[in-house]
Parts: sequence; structure tokens; C-alpha cells
Amino acid sequence: MGVRREWHDARHRYAETGCVLVDGNHGSPAAAVFDALGGDYEAAFASSEAHRASLAWLLERLPPAARVLDVGSGTGRPTAAALAAAGHRVLGVDVSPVMVEIASRQVPDAEFRCGDVRSVPFEDGSFDAVCLYFALLQMSRAEQSGLLRRLVRALRPGGLFALATVPLDVEDFDGVFMGRSVRVTSFPAQDVIGLVRDAGLTVLSERSVLFTPAHPDAAPEPQLFLHCRRGETAPAG
Ligand SMILES: C[S@@+](CC[C@H](N)C(=O)[O-])C[C@H]1O[C@@H](n2cnc3c(N)ncnc32)[C@H](O)[C@@H]1O
Repeated sequence: MGVRREWHDARHRYAETGCVLVDGNHGSPAAAVFDALGGDYEAAFASSEAHRASLAWLLERLPPAARVLDVGSGTGRPTAAALAAAGHRVLGVDVSPVMVEIASRQVPDAEFRCGDVRSVPFEDGSFDAVCLYFALLQMSRAEQSGLLRRLVRALRPGGLFALATVPLDVEDFDGVFMGRSVRVTSFPAQDVIGLVRDAGLTVLSERSVLFTPAHPDAAPEPQLFLHCRRGETAPAG
């Protein structure tokens, strides 16, 4: 099935789910890549022990029926699925209509919205936890830093923040990911940690791993997982 056809069908099925379409996604490079990858992304990353361990960290600390924001929620697995199965109230936001359609189908107990997180408003202090797994890489450095600050404000004081990214010193790098062209921007690990601290989070634990996605065109990638807590005072700016 061609990408255009898959996208059209996903939009159609997505409309049937009754989810809120926050904005249009035409022209979003991230949406184009992840619309094309769809369920292949989940299959390629399914064996990530570090991602499962990060979710276990969160699940051990969340209060019952916690409200959790999953930014760049992908197919809903493993993040939204694990949290919803434990009785938490999950809102997933993703710019890819195909991903949102798959997630809505796979994790019916969570809510998913299609939109670019850079322009989705969140109420201050409205989440007990935020998950941000591998969703920063198609944003500029200034946007990554601005988004982190905004997401920390959306956390209640003392709330938890789980983040994972690929900690490379690259800016608008023309790469290939699972056979697709992508432009990638990121920071070296120490700078990611600095950004997270500047945004108002305390880093409670960090873990670096090398992970090879299960895909013929994938290369081993460094991954950084951070587990953080918002302080009791309001973050600056
Ligand atoms: C690498 S995948 C990770 C999916 C999931 N978080 C996981 O770890 O399994 C990144 C996801 O973030 C989404 N994404 C990227 N940029 C986004 C943006 N600006 N707003 C919302 N979603 C975005 C992509 O569509 C994709 O589904």
C-alpha cells in the first residue's frame, strides 16, 4: 500500500475514532517519516529493555490513576499501553495521523490527539508525569529547549518526567533512519542533561545504552534515558 493511500485511510479511520484533531499536519517532516514507518517502528524497537526499564521506574513511583502526558506517543506501545494497563489516565500527542490511528486502535483506554506538540497548549500543573521518548529529534535546538520548559510547566510540582533521546552533537543532519531520509537535530548527553536541569527538573537517574533496532536498514544508535522530578517551585520562564 502506498504512503498516500495509507495516510488517507488512516485519516478516515482516525475520524471515526472521534478523537480531536488539533491541527493539520501537512508539511510536517516528522509526520511524513512516521506516517511511512507506522507499525514498523514499533516492531523495530520492541526489544528495548532500556525503554521497558524506564517505564518500570515510572510505574513504581506514580500515584494511582495518575494523569500522564505521552509526547510523540507513536503506536501507543510500549508507553501508553503499559501506563493505561496500570490504571493511569494517558493523553498521547503525536503529529503523525497514521501513528495516532494505530495507537487509538491498540490502546483504547488511552486518549490520543493528532497535533504538533510545539503548538498544542497544556494547562500549567495539569499532569502527574510527562513521557518524552525519542520525539525531540525533528525539532531545532531552540524548539527542543523551549518545549522542555513548557512541558515542565505542564507538570505539577513534584511531578515525574521520563525522557529518552539520541544524544549526538548534530544539527539539521541529513540522515537515514530505517531506510527513510530524515533531518536530525540533537545535543551531546551532557548538554541534554543541562537543558533538562535548566528547564527546572532534578535528574534522579540516567542511563546510556547502545541499541540496534530490528530492521535491515537500521544502525546501532546511542540512547540516553533520564528520570527526573520537577521541583516544588515554579520553573523559570
Ligand atoms: C521515534 S518515534 C517514538 C515513538 C514513541 N515515543 C516510542 O518511543 O516508542 C517519535 C514519535 O514522535 C512523533 N513526533 C515527532 N515530532 C513531533 C512533534 N513535533 N509533535 C508531535 N509528535 C511528534 C513522531 O510522529 C513519532 O511518532
